[in-house]
Amino acid sequence: MGEFDGKAVIVTGGALGIGGAASLAFAREGANVTVMDVDVAAGNDAVAKMSELSGNGLFVEADAGTATGCKKTVDATVEAFGGVDIVFNNVGIQPRSSYLDAVELPEEAWDRIINVNLKSRFLMAKYSIPHMQAAGGGVIISTASVQGRQSMPGVSAYAASKGGDLSLMRQLSLDFAKDNIRVLAVNPGSINTPMLRNAGGLSDAEFADAVKDYGKDHPLGRIGDPDEIAEVVLFLASDRASFMTGESVTVDGGMMAKGAWAGGAGAE
Ligand SMILES: NC(=O)c1ccc[n+]([C@@H]2O[C@H](COP(=O)([O-])OP(=O)(O)OC[C@H]3O[C@@H](n4cnc5c(N)ncnc54)[C@H](O)[C@@H]3O)[C@@H](O)[C@H]2O)c1
Repeated sequence: MGEFDGKAVIVTGGALGIGGAASLAFAREGANVTVMDVDVAAGNDAVAKMSELSGNGLFVEADAGTATGCKKTVDATVEAFGGVDIVFNNVGIQPRSSYLDAVELPEEAWDRIINVNLKSRFLMAKYSIPHMQAAGGGVIISTASVQGRQSMPGVSAYAASKGGDLSLMRQLSLDFAKDNIRVLAVNPGSINTPMLRNAGGLSDAEFADAVKDYGKDHPLGRIGDPDEIAEVVLFLASDRASFMTGESVTVDGGMMAKGAWAGGAGAE
């Protein structure tokens, strides 16, 4: 018996990285998992892996930054699995070309990041919540970021999207608590995924060195693994977290516990 036997779960950006780990973890626990992604090959791969696990997989090729993509994903899930019990709003982009200050960042780049990282949360809520209400409850979880809590230079749109994600999560938790819908978020620190790999534009050897450097920013001395985020997401989605809503859990090896002074020269 899996903890999510028969539950209908949607994972946005569910093919690779944190979403890929969560899709497989839910399937391992018996869930019926819809992988929504723009990467067709990776999406089909993820669903193929699920056929060896306890749950079923469905791949939906869709762009999370559009209303048609989000509606199509919810509709396909209801048709295949009879409802929507859990939405893991994981999708997020931070293109290397977007590491610019607000003066330099093209408006189109701002719009795209906000649409994929934040508007998708609104759209998935809009289309999935009526099904949760009809079923008597549900859980919605976002992958926000430590960058929704503190900031860094050159990431205006990404930072705004992650702060907005946390604020929307709190707001939705109030509107839909009466429907037994819990709304939560995780804030990862640096996690070893294709996103992190692509952010630096590095060779394999350079990336391996960079991973060691990024690890030094985290008190546990290393960056995280996608499975370490998936573990927390499954806990939040489960009845073990039945009294949690409107809150985020930071999973960052201790990074946010440090003050700004902690990494500076001469800090003690
Ligand atoms: N990796 C990190 O260090 C880190 C840290 C904090 C927060 N996050 C957040 O975690 C989430 C997942 O990040 P990741 O590192 O696993 O990313 P990733 O780039 O490794 O994987 C993202 C997945 O989303 C898919 N995707 C991209 N654009 C899409 C779109 N428009 N519609 C549907 N699918 C789309 C990709 O094909 C891929 O499968 C994001 O919200 C990200 O902001 C990541």
